[in-house]
Amino acid sequence: MKLKDKVALISGANSGIGRAIATRFAQEGAHVAVNYLPVGQNAQTAQAEVDDFEKTYGETGIAVGGDVSKRADVEAMFAATVEKFGRIDIVVNNAGIEFKKPFVDVTDDEWNKVIAVNLFGSFLLSQLGARQMIAQGGGGKIINISSVHEDIPFPGYTAYCASKGAMRMMMRNLAMELAPNKINVNNIAPGAIATPINQSVLDDPKALKDAVTEIPWGRFGKPEEVAAVAAFLASDESEYVTGSTYYVDGGLTQQVTLY
Ligand code: BGC
Repeated sequence: MKLKDKVALISGANSGIGRAIATRFAQEGAHVAVNYLPVGQNAQTAQAEVDDFEKTYGETGIAVGGDVSKRADVEAMFAATVEKFGRIDIVVNNAGIEFKKPFVDVTDDEWNKVIAVNLFGSFLLSQLGARQMIAQGGGGKIINISSVHEDIPFPGYTAYCASKGAMRMMMRNLAMELAPNKINVNNIAPGAIATPINQSVLDDPKALKDAVTEIPWGRFGKPEEVAAVAAFLASDESEYVTGSTYYVDGGLTQQVTLY
């Protein structure tokens, strides 16, 4: 078990990649704080997820509702986690949103919402996480789930790409600033992973076929394949790894379309 007795707070941990990371961390022996956006049935599904971790892996966790783009919400989720487990060793910035629209038609609200969740939310969790880790001593891990689009363009998704590119530079700066505190800061850049964010493509055979031709490995990735890299970055084995982006994309970023 790579993460025995570690405490991890994961944003957007009730679905997709976040849920796979939460599951893998619990399997590796961590106590997981499962953050979810408190809308619809999310509170119930997040609590069920936490209960399941205890039943399946014997690890207690906590469901912490909150909007990552609101400082008061983020403060409350950190407070609840620290109250229950006494510390936080790992923060995973996973919550993210995207929309597709020609750049010339994007509204202020659409732009601001994506930046608020993806970038400002990662700023808030990283800052509160770093403060907590510095106060408790002994280092820690901050992992951002960015995207291949922290590096490569994605026409129609400019706000998303801008937020992910900025997450890359935030990560590189934090890696330097927090190295003296032995806090490792890294990004994981997933490519096309089979999660709800891609549901419309997965449900459309023609769109799916087109998407897969862009992927040298010939298929979409699985959330568990991203979680495997997150488990490494969250563990003591990554002691000397900081300031890096790990691509989990089946070679997508290597694909150059010349004609
Ligand atoms: C986006 C997906 C997209 C994938 C590969 C991800 O960051 O969320 O919508 O399919 O990148 O382009």
